[in-house]
Amino acid sequence: MARPQKERIMKDIKIAVLPGDGIGPEIVAQAVKAVDAVAAKFGYNITYTHALVGAAAIDATGNPYPDETHQACMDADAVLFGAIGDPRFDNNPEAKVRPEQGLLAMRKKLGLYANLRPVNTFDSLLHRSPLRYDLVEGADFICVRELTGGLYFGRPQGRSEDGNTAYDTCVYSREEIERICRLGFEYAGKRRGKLTVVDKANVLATSRLWRETAKAMEKDYPNVEVEYMFVDNAAMKIIQQPKHFDVMVTENMFGDILTDEASVITGSLGLLPSASIGTGTSLFEPIHGSYPQAAGKNIANPIATILSAAMMFEYAFADMEAGAAIRKAVNLSIEQNVVTEDIAPEGVKPSTTTEVGDFIAKNI
Ligand code: IPM
Ligand code: MG
Repeated sequence: MARPQKERIMKDIKIAVLPGDGIGPEIVAQAVKAVDAVAAKFGYNITYTHALVGAAAIDATGNPYPDETHQACMDADAVLFGAIGDPRFDNNPEAKVRPEQGLLAMRKKLGLYANLRPVNTFDSLLHRSPLRYDLVEGADFICVRELTGGLYFGRPQGRSEDGNTAYDTCVYSREEIERICRLGFEYAGKRRGKLTVVDKANVLATSRLWRETAKAMEKDYPNVEVEYMFVDNAAMKIIQQPKHFDVMVTENMFGDILTDEASVITGSLGLLPSASIGTGTSLFEPIHGSYPQAAGKNIANPIATILSAAMMFEYAFADMEAGAAIRKAVNLSIEQNVVTEDIAPEGVKPSTTTEVGDFIAKNI
């Protein structure tokens, strides 16, 4: 599934660590433990640079993505990122800068145009899925989400002078669509050969360009079967028949929404990792957010972040063995019920975030 970016396995690596907000610092600390365990086992020499992003960075510098943080990312071979978001800003229309702007600036400046979100299930957790066992068992697809275009970045964006009208603009160029669809076609070619292009071409002009562009690319990938699906239908199909999908490619906002939906069919939002790749340093982060209610309580599930570290070894360093070592230890923690409260079975005492992290590191 992984698509190594570099053929050679690098052993001297620099990782920028951006814990961010909420539970970010706690879960990233567990991923760092896993990375250290991999380093010891496979002979890596790792240098970490910690940097601020999000509300943490606003508090310290006024800027949610400070220049020093960008520099640290540019200088690194990979970025390990936690989460961004702080309720202090959410219902405050006065806030001039928002933590999320840091995340968007980071994606744009690092050229991270593709967010890869694999969705797969863990057999021992199927009972936690809100869906019937037979529907989710064996579900395994990947969502390729465009990350630096669409409504998130289109301009103009804002309010009319009287404050009574607001607008966002959805913009996509053919080039942007082509480069993200190319990834979709390539992954489909390496997997089960099925690509679903998700759009709203019955309503949106950008979606019609999206569809036209993808259709023109079909001839370059004769082994990939392509289908086009409206986003509302896709939202339904993910619940009704998740095993229908192999690779899904879609624009920024649709991808944001569909991947949160897809993640819960696996049993917990705390399990799914992601990789953001593009023109500069790649970034690895859990798909969940900063979960402020749990911050500092040592209860958050670190698995999505630890699996993001596995993706880091696979995608950024072409080291499948290191990735597999992490995945194996994660599976063991789930099998042996060394898990946080969100996935602990009834009657089993939940482990803390640090206990799960320690167990996984030890078993790597
Ligand atoms: C995600 C998050 C972000 C997004 C937010 C925090 C801006 O939901 O990574 O999915 O919408 O992209
Ligand atoms: Mg999201």
